[in-house]
Amino acid sequence: MTDSTATVRGVSDTARWVAYFRARETQRADALFRDPYAERLAGEYGFHLANTLPDGNKHEWAWVARTYLFDQFISRAIQEGADLVLNLAAGLDARPYRMELSPTLQWVEVDLPDIVSYKEDVLGKETPRCRLQRIALDLSDVAARRNLFSQLNAGAKRVVVVSEGLLIYFTPEEVSSLSTDLASQERFRTWVIDLASPGQLRLMQRTTGKQLSEAGAAFKFGPAEGAHFFASSGWEPKDVQGMLKTAAQFKRAPVELLSLLPEPKGNPGNYPWTGVCLLGRR
Ligand SMILES: C[S@@+](CC[C@H](N)C(=O)[O-])C[C@H]1O[C@@H](n2cnc3c(N)ncnc32)[C@H](O)[C@@H]1O
Repeated sequence: MTDSTATVRGVSDTARWVAYFRARETQRADALFRDPYAERLAGEYGFHLANTLPDGNKHEWAWVARTYLFDQFISRAIQEGADLVLNLAAGLDARPYRMELSPTLQWVEVDLPDIVSYKEDVLGKETPRCRLQRIALDLSDVAARRNLFSQLNAGAKRVVVVSEGLLIYFTPEEVSSLSTDLASQERFRTWVIDLASPGQLRLMQRTTGKQLSEAGAAFKFGPAEGAHFFASSGWEPKDVQGMLKTAAQFKRAPVELLSLLPEPKGNPGNYPWTGVCLLGRR
């Protein structure tokens, strides 16, 4: 497995890459979160990928800030009454096992079949802290996802949707279609997403993105409108937090990037911005 030519085999391998950063953070004395499952889930392959992809092990601060911000927004949505967390493209995320959660909370994870079955192999004997269900489904299958969304809508009072690290692999049209499908379910009240500016998207396409593109996992989405992209499908930004600003708050931002602070107000355009957004219904 330490073959230096080994590379990304498809979009689901990106889940192992992200788990690598959660494993690294967990080892720190001052960790912003601890995921005791991440090392096992990333596996040797995840460690290898992160250390052989171009720029694959750089920007650790951004991955950590992203996880931290998703944790914050998910907790807030649950405190505000969400009784179901729908994690689209959950990958190797272990939040149902590591967060403080009510045992009555419903948590549904969706991802492609291979990664769902790998995760089941690794975590099958562990006990989640809430009512967890894993569903293997291709979210590009519009009929299948609409069917799932309407079933979940019927079985909950208030749903928070999470899609961490997914939208960037979809075209703007695909994102818009998914966004409309989510908005058409009346109990889907909030949606937590991560977003890159057009400038950041171009940077990523030139580095790690080249190799991911060859594996059919090209980076595609970085809208000029920022979080307002979702307005036409029924969502508006309630809270938007930049990853660099968040990393700086915890003294994790690299010195060479500090000159980019403070982040611009409004749509970041060419500024290399990434952030996490809490969307609510318009
Ligand atoms: C970068 S990983 C993020 C995983 C997880 N959310 C996290 O942050 O650790 C991207 C995930 O998107 C999933 N994915 C990509 N396209 C998908 C699709 N069409 N349907 C379902 N899952 C998809 C991949 O399998 C992978 O697990």
